[in-house]
Amino acid sequence: MKANVVRIHRHGGPEVLCHETVDIPPPGSGEVLIRQTAIGLNYSDIYQRQGEAGPHDAYPFPIVLGGQGAGVVEAVGHDVDGFRPGDRVAYLHPGAYADRRLVPASRLLALPADISDDVAGAVLLRGLTAEYLLRRLYRVRPGTTMLVHAAAGGMGLLLGQWGKALGAHTIGTVGSAAKVSVARANGYDAVIDTGTDDFSPAVLALTGGTGVDVVYDGIGKDGFLPSLDCVRAMGIVISYGTASGNVGMFDLQALHRKSIIVTRPTLRTWIAARADYEAAASAVFDALRAGILRGEPARRYQLADARRAHEDLQARRTTGAAILVPG
Ligand SMILES: NC(=O)c1ccc[n+]([C@@H]2O[C@H](COP(=O)([O-])OP(=O)(O)OC[C@H]3O[C@@H](n4cnc5c(N)ncnc54)[C@H](OP(=O)(O)O)[C@@H]3O)[C@@H](O)[C@H]2O)c1
Repeated sequence: MKANVVRIHRHGGPEVLCHETVDIPPPGSGEVLIRQTAIGLNYSDIYQRQGEAGPHDAYPFPIVLGGQGAGVVEAVGHDVDGFRPGDRVAYLHPGAYADRRLVPASRLLALPADISDDVAGAVLLRGLTAEYLLRRLYRVRPGTTMLVHAAAGGMGLLLGQWGKALGAHTIGTVGSAAKVSVARANGYDAVIDTGTDDFSPAVLALTGGTGVDVVYDGIGKDGFLPSLDCVRAMGIVISYGTASGNVGMFDLQALHRKSIIVTRPTLRTWIAARADYEAAASAVFDALRAGILRGEPARRYQLADARRAHEDLQARRTTGAAILVPG
Protein backbone atom coordinates (compact mmCIF):
# COMPACT_ATOMS: atom_id res chain seq x y z
CA MET A 1 0.00 0.00 0.00
CA LYS A 2 1.12 3.57 -0.71
CA ALA A 3 1.17 6.45 1.78
CA ASN A 4 1.75 10.16 1.25
CA VAL A 5 4.18 11.42 3.86
CA VAL A 6 6.03 14.60 4.81
CA ARG A 7 9.60 13.75 5.68
CA ILE A 8 13.08 15.24 5.89
CA HIS A 9 16.41 14.01 4.53
CA ARG A 10 18.43 16.58 6.51
CA HIS A 11 17.80 19.00 9.35
CA GLY A 12 17.02 22.64 8.62
CA GLY A 13 14.29 25.24 8.07
CA PRO A 14 10.78 24.64 6.71
CA GLU A 15 12.29 24.23 3.21
CA VAL A 16 13.63 20.75 4.13
CA LEU A 17 10.09 19.31 4.34
CA CYS A 18 9.58 16.91 1.38
CA HIS A 19 6.25 15.53 0.22
CA GLU A 20 6.83 11.96 -0.91
CA THR A 21 4.96 8.74 -1.61
CA VAL A 22 6.26 5.62 0.14
CA ASP A 23 5.30 1.94 0.33
CA ILE A 24 3.95 0.66 3.62
CA PRO A 25 3.72 -3.07 4.32
CA PRO A 26 0.65 -4.74 5.85
CA PRO A 27 0.59 -4.44 9.66
CA GLY A 28 3.05 -6.81 11.32
CA SER A 29 2.99 -8.29 14.80
CA GLY A 30 1.47 -5.83 17.27
CA GLU A 31 0.84 -3.20 14.58
CA VAL A 32 -2.24 -1.36 13.35
CA LEU A 33 -2.72 0.42 10.00
CA ILE A 34 -4.46 3.76 10.37
CA ARG A 35 -6.03 6.09 7.81
CA GLN A 36 -5.33 9.44 9.41
CA THR A 37 -7.87 12.25 9.63
CA ALA A 38 -6.20 14.80 11.96
CA ILE A 39 -2.47 15.14 12.64
CA GLY A 40 -1.27 17.27 15.54
CA LEU A 41 1.03 20.22 14.78
CA ASN A 42 3.29 20.67 17.80
CA TYR A 43 6.31 22.79 18.55
CA SER A 44 8.28 19.58 19.04
CA ASP A 45 7.89 18.97 15.26
CA ILE A 46 10.04 22.09 14.75
CA TYR A 47 12.74 20.84 17.14
CA GLN A 48 12.72 17.54 15.28
CA ARG A 49 12.99 19.30 11.88
CA GLN A 50 15.86 21.46 13.16
CA GLY A 51 17.69 18.55 14.79
CA GLU A 52 17.61 19.88 18.34
CA ALA A 53 19.01 17.54 20.96
CA GLY A 54 16.28 15.94 23.03
CA PRO A 55 13.81 13.08 22.91
CA HIS A 56 13.56 13.37 19.08
CA ASP A 57 17.20 13.20 18.10
CA ALA A 58 17.68 9.45 17.81
CA TYR A 59 15.97 8.68 14.48
CA PRO A 60 17.85 8.00 11.21
CA PHE A 61 17.03 9.86 7.96
CA PRO A 62 14.69 10.02 6.20
CA ILE A 63 12.49 11.08 9.15
CA VAL A 64 8.71 11.35 8.84
CA LEU A 65 7.94 14.28 11.14
CA GLY A 66 5.26 14.57 13.80
CA GLY A 67 4.30 12.65 16.89
CA GLN A 68 0.53 12.70 17.22
CA GLY A 69 -2.48 11.72 15.14
CA ALA A 70 -6.05 10.50 15.03
CA GLY A 71 -7.94 8.44 12.49
CA VAL A 72 -9.62 5.15 11.64
CA VAL A 73 -8.18 1.65 11.87
CA GLU A 74 -7.99 -0.04 8.43
CA ALA A 75 -6.20 -3.29 9.32
CA VAL A 76 -4.57 -4.99 12.31
CA GLY A 77 -1.67 -7.41 12.78
CA HIS A 78 -2.55 -11.08 13.41
CA ASP A 79 -1.93 -10.88 17.17
CA VAL A 80 -3.59 -7.51 17.92
CA ASP A 81 -6.43 -7.67 20.43
CA GLY A 82 -8.61 -4.74 21.34
CA PHE A 83 -8.65 -2.87 17.99
CA ARG A 84 -10.60 -3.72 14.84
CA PRO A 85 -11.00 -2.15 11.38
CA GLY A 86 -13.39 0.79 11.63
CA ASP A 87 -12.39 1.78 15.19
CA ARG A 88 -11.66 5.48 15.79
CA VAL A 89 -8.29 5.92 17.50
CA ALA A 90 -5.69 8.48 18.50
CA TYR A 91 -2.06 8.04 19.49
CA LEU A 92 1.30 9.57 20.34
CA HIS A 93 4.07 7.94 18.28
CA PRO A 94 6.79 9.29 15.98
CA GLY A 95 6.15 9.49 12.23
CA ALA A 96 2.74 11.16 12.17
CA TYR A 97 2.91 13.37 9.02
CA ALA A 98 1.27 10.83 6.72
CA ASP A 99 -2.16 10.04 5.33
CA ARG A 100 -1.74 6.34 6.23
CA ARG A 101 0.68 4.78 8.69
CA LEU A 102 1.47 1.87 10.97
CA VAL A 103 1.37 2.40 14.74
CA PRO A 104 2.11 -0.11 17.52
CA ALA A 105 -1.21 -1.07 19.13
CA SER A 106 0.46 -0.36 22.49
CA ARG A 107 0.47 3.39 21.67
CA LEU A 108 -3.16 3.56 20.47
CA LEU A 109 -6.07 4.94 22.47
CA ALA A 110 -9.69 4.23 21.56
CA LEU A 111 -11.43 7.53 20.86
CA PRO A 112 -14.69 7.98 22.76
CA ALA A 113 -17.69 8.75 20.50
CA ASP A 114 -18.03 12.28 21.93
CA ILE A 115 -14.41 13.30 21.20
CA SER A 116 -13.99 14.33 17.56
CA ASP A 117 -10.94 13.45 15.47
CA ASP A 118 -10.10 17.16 15.11
CA VAL A 119 -10.17 17.71 18.88
CA ALA A 120 -8.06 14.60 19.51
CA GLY A 121 -5.60 15.71 16.82
CA ALA A 122 -5.32 19.18 18.35
CA VAL A 123 -5.35 18.35 22.03
CA LEU A 124 -3.99 14.90 22.84
CA LEU A 125 -0.26 15.65 23.16
CA ARG A 126 -0.71 19.05 24.80
CA GLY A 127 -3.60 17.84 26.97
CA LEU A 128 -1.53 14.94 28.31
CA THR A 129 1.28 17.42 28.96
CA ALA A 130 -1.02 19.82 30.80
CA GLU A 131 -2.29 16.86 32.84
CA TYR A 132 1.12 15.88 34.22
CA LEU A 133 2.30 19.49 34.59
CA LEU A 134 -0.75 20.61 36.60
CA ARG A 135 -1.80 17.42 38.41
CA ARG A 136 1.29 15.29 38.95
CA LEU A 137 4.64 17.08 38.55
CA TYR A 138 3.22 19.98 40.56
CA ARG A 139 -0.25 19.74 42.12
CA VAL A 140 -2.13 22.95 41.39
CA ARG A 141 -4.81 23.57 44.01
CA PRO A 142 -7.16 26.38 44.98
CA GLY A 143 -5.03 29.41 45.81
CA THR A 144 -1.93 28.31 43.84
CA THR A 145 -0.34 31.24 42.00
CA MET A 146 1.02 30.18 38.61
CA LEU A 147 2.90 31.94 35.83
CA VAL A 148 2.69 30.58 32.28
CA HIS A 149 4.80 31.85 29.37
CA ALA A 150 3.34 31.89 25.84
CA ALA A 151 -0.10 31.92 27.47
CA ALA A 152 -1.95 32.27 24.14
CA GLY A 153 -0.11 29.35 22.52
CA GLY A 154 -1.34 25.79 22.24
CA MET A 155 0.03 24.72 25.62
CA GLY A 156 -0.66 28.11 27.17
CA LEU A 157 -4.41 27.98 26.50
CA LEU A 158 -4.79 24.52 28.03
CA LEU A 159 -2.71 25.47 31.11
CA GLY A 160 -4.83 28.60 31.60
CA GLN A 161 -8.15 26.78 31.15
CA TRP A 162 -7.25 23.85 33.41
CA GLY A 163 -5.25 25.84 35.95
CA LYS A 164 -8.17 28.23 36.46
CA ALA A 165 -10.58 25.32 36.89
CA LEU A 166 -8.28 23.87 39.58
CA GLY A 167 -8.62 27.15 41.47
CA ALA A 168 -5.29 28.81 40.66
CA HIS A 169 -4.58 32.49 40.34
CA THR A 170 -3.23 32.57 36.79
CA ILE A 171 -0.73 35.00 35.30
CA GLY A 172 0.31 34.68 31.66
CA THR A 173 2.89 36.28 29.39
CA VAL A 174 2.34 36.80 25.66
CA GLY A 175 4.60 38.20 22.95
CA SER A 176 2.25 40.76 21.39
CA ALA A 177 -0.75 42.94 22.21
CA ALA A 178 -3.09 40.93 19.94
CA LYS A 179 -2.59 37.83 22.11
CA VAL A 180 -3.58 39.49 25.41
CA SER A 181 -7.33 39.09 24.86
CA VAL A 182 -6.88 35.47 23.70
CA ALA A 183 -5.12 34.58 26.96
CA ARG A 184 -7.68 36.51 29.01
CA ALA A 185 -10.52 34.56 27.39
CA ASN A 186 -8.81 31.29 28.34
CA GLY A 187 -8.43 31.44 32.09
CA TYR A 188 -5.79 34.07 32.77
CA ASP A 189 -6.49 36.61 35.53
CA ALA A 190 -3.59 38.84 34.46
CA VAL A 191 -1.67 38.94 31.19
CA ILE A 192 1.70 40.63 30.60
CA ASP A 193 2.66 41.65 27.07
CA THR A 194 6.42 41.03 26.87
CA GLY A 195 6.50 43.16 23.72
CA THR A 196 6.12 46.21 25.97
CA ASP A 197 6.81 45.10 29.58
CA ASP A 198 9.51 43.15 31.42
CA PHE A 199 7.66 40.27 32.98
CA SER A 200 9.68 39.79 36.22
CA PRO A 201 8.87 43.16 37.84
CA ALA A 202 5.29 42.89 36.60
CA VAL A 203 4.86 39.43 38.20
CA LEU A 204 6.37 40.61 41.48
CA ALA A 205 4.01 43.62 41.47
CA LEU A 206 1.03 41.32 40.84
CA THR A 207 2.01 39.03 43.76
CA GLY A 208 2.79 41.74 46.31
CA GLY A 209 6.53 41.10 45.94
CA THR A 210 6.27 37.42 46.95
CA GLY A 211 6.47 35.69 43.57
CA VAL A 212 4.41 32.79 42.23
CA ASP A 213 4.32 29.21 43.49
CA VAL A 214 5.08 27.70 40.09
CA VAL A 215 6.36 28.88 36.71
CA TYR A 216 5.50 26.94 33.56
CA ASP A 217 8.18 27.97 31.07
CA GLY A 218 7.81 26.66 27.51
CA ILE A 219 10.04 29.39 26.08
CA GLY A 220 13.47 28.45 27.45
CA LYS A 221 16.33 30.78 26.51
CA ASP A 222 14.39 34.07 26.78
CA GLY A 223 12.17 33.03 29.69
CA PHE A 224 14.11 30.88 32.10
CA LEU A 225 16.55 33.14 33.99
CA PRO A 226 14.07 36.02 34.54
CA SER A 227 11.59 33.37 35.72
CA LEU A 228 13.87 32.65 38.69
CA ASP A 229 13.14 36.21 39.87
CA CYS A 230 9.36 35.58 39.66
CA VAL A 231 9.10 32.49 41.83
CA ARG A 232 8.58 32.53 45.59
CA ALA A 233 10.99 31.02 48.13
CA MET A 234 10.88 27.21 47.75
CA GLY A 235 8.85 27.61 44.58
CA ILE A 236 9.34 25.56 41.41
CA VAL A 237 10.32 26.58 37.88
CA ILE A 238 9.27 23.96 35.33
CA SER A 239 11.29 24.42 32.15
CA TYR A 240 9.13 22.28 29.88
CA GLY A 241 9.98 23.78 26.47
CA THR A 242 12.53 25.78 24.50
CA ALA A 243 10.64 27.70 21.78
CA SER A 244 13.18 30.58 21.94
CA GLY A 245 16.22 28.28 22.23
CA ASN A 246 17.87 26.04 24.81
CA VAL A 247 18.49 27.44 28.29
CA GLY A 248 22.15 26.50 28.26
CA MET A 249 24.54 26.62 31.21
CA PHE A 250 23.51 28.63 34.24
CA ASP A 251 24.90 29.18 37.70
CA LEU A 252 23.34 26.70 40.14
CA GLN A 253 23.98 29.28 42.86
CA ALA A 254 21.14 31.32 41.29
CA LEU A 255 18.76 28.86 43.01
CA HIS A 256 20.40 29.10 46.44
CA ARG A 257 18.98 32.34 47.83
CA LYS A 258 15.34 31.18 47.54
CA SER A 259 15.83 27.37 47.56
CA ILE A 260 14.26 27.27 44.11
CA ILE A 261 13.42 23.89 42.55
CA VAL A 262 14.04 23.53 38.80
CA THR A 263 13.02 20.63 36.57
CA ARG A 264 13.22 19.91 32.81
CA PRO A 265 10.57 17.22 32.17
CA THR A 266 9.33 15.43 29.07
CA LEU A 267 5.88 13.96 28.52
CA ARG A 268 7.44 10.68 27.38
CA THR A 269 8.52 9.67 30.86
CA TRP A 270 5.20 10.71 32.41
CA ILE A 271 3.17 8.43 30.11
CA ALA A 272 5.73 5.67 29.50
CA ALA A 273 3.65 3.18 31.50
CA ARG A 274 0.45 2.17 29.68
CA ALA A 275 -1.60 2.69 32.87
CA ASP A 276 -0.35 6.29 33.15
CA TYR A 277 -1.00 6.92 29.43
CA GLU A 278 -4.59 5.68 29.74
CA ALA A 279 -5.29 7.47 33.03
CA ALA A 280 -3.94 10.77 31.71
CA ALA A 281 -5.95 10.44 28.47
CA SER A 282 -9.09 9.71 30.50
CA ALA A 283 -8.50 12.83 32.57
CA VAL A 284 -8.09 14.90 29.38
CA PHE A 285 -11.26 13.44 27.81
CA ASP A 286 -13.17 14.12 31.06
CA ALA A 287 -11.88 17.71 31.14
CA LEU A 288 -13.05 18.18 27.52
CA ARG A 289 -16.50 16.75 28.35
CA ALA A 290 -16.81 18.98 31.41
CA GLY A 291 -15.98 22.04 29.29
CA ILE A 292 -12.84 22.69 31.37
CA LEU A 293 -10.70 22.28 28.25
CA ARG A 294 -11.81 23.70 24.90
CA GLY A 295 -10.25 21.47 22.30
CA GLU A 296 -11.34 22.73 18.87
CA PRO A 297 -8.26 23.51 16.77
CA ALA A 298 -7.74 27.22 16.13
CA ARG A 299 -6.64 26.43 12.57
CA ARG A 300 -6.49 23.59 10.07
CA TYR A 301 -3.83 23.20 7.38
CA GLN A 302 -3.78 20.67 4.59
CA LEU A 303 -0.93 18.20 5.13
CA ALA A 304 0.35 19.50 1.78
CA ASP A 305 0.70 22.92 3.49
CA ALA A 306 2.92 21.60 6.31
CA ARG A 307 5.65 24.05 5.35
CA ARG A 308 3.35 27.07 5.85
CA ALA A 309 2.14 25.58 9.15
CA HIS A 310 5.74 25.34 10.38
CA GLU A 311 6.51 28.90 9.26
CA ASP A 312 3.44 30.31 11.04
CA LEU A 313 4.13 28.46 14.32
CA GLN A 314 7.81 29.36 14.41
CA ALA A 315 7.14 33.03 13.54
CA ARG A 316 4.84 33.35 16.59
CA ARG A 317 1.87 34.12 14.30
CA THR A 318 -0.42 31.53 15.88
CA THR A 319 -2.62 31.23 18.94
CA GLY A 320 -4.05 27.96 20.24
CA ALA A 321 -3.50 24.63 18.50
CA ALA A 322 -3.51 23.60 14.85
CA ILE A 323 -3.96 20.33 12.97
CA LEU A 324 -2.74 19.05 9.62
CA VAL A 325 -5.43 17.38 7.54
CA PRO A 326 -4.50 14.78 4.89
CA GLY A 327 -6.04 15.68 1.49
N1 LIG B 1 8.18 18.88 27.99
C1 LIG B 1 7.01 18.43 27.54
O1 LIG B 1 6.51 17.41 28.02
C2 LIG B 1 6.29 19.19 26.47
C3 LIG B 1 5.16 18.64 25.86
C4 LIG B 1 4.46 19.43 24.94
C5 LIG B 1 4.91 20.70 24.60
N2 LIG B 1 6.06 21.16 25.17
C6 LIG B 1 6.59 22.50 24.87
O2 LIG B 1 5.59 23.46 25.07
C7 LIG B 1 5.92 24.62 24.33
C8 LIG B 1 4.67 25.10 23.62
O3 LIG B 1 4.33 24.16 22.62
P1 LIG B 1 3.16 24.43 21.60
O4 LIG B 1 3.24 23.36 20.57
O5 LIG B 1 1.88 24.61 22.32
O6 LIG B 1 3.62 25.82 20.90
P2 LIG B 1 2.95 27.28 21.05
O7 LIG B 1 2.99 27.69 22.47
O8 LIG B 1 1.65 27.30 20.34
O9 LIG B 1 3.99 28.15 20.23
C9 LIG B 1 5.19 28.59 20.80
C10 LIG B 1 5.03 29.99 21.41
O10 LIG B 1 6.24 30.31 22.09
C11 LIG B 1 6.37 31.70 22.16
N3 LIG B 1 7.74 32.11 21.83
C12 LIG B 1 8.50 32.92 22.59
N4 LIG B 1 9.68 33.13 22.02
C13 LIG B 1 9.67 32.48 20.85
C14 LIG B 1 10.61 32.36 19.80
N5 LIG B 1 11.82 32.96 19.85
N6 LIG B 1 10.27 31.63 18.71
C15 LIG B 1 9.08 31.01 18.66
N7 LIG B 1 8.14 31.10 19.63
C16 LIG B 1 8.43 31.83 20.72
C17 LIG B 1 5.38 32.31 21.15
O11 LIG B 1 4.31 32.90 21.91
P3 LIG B 1 4.39 34.50 22.24
O12 LIG B 1 4.53 35.18 20.91
O13 LIG B 1 3.12 34.79 22.93
O14 LIG B 1 5.61 34.67 23.12
C18 LIG B 1 4.88 31.10 20.38
O15 LIG B 1 3.55 31.26 19.93
C19 LIG B 1 7.05 24.21 23.37
O16 LIG B 1 8.28 24.67 23.90
C20 LIG B 1 7.00 22.71 23.43
O17 LIG B 1 8.23 22.10 23.15
C21 LIG B 1 6.76 20.42 26.08
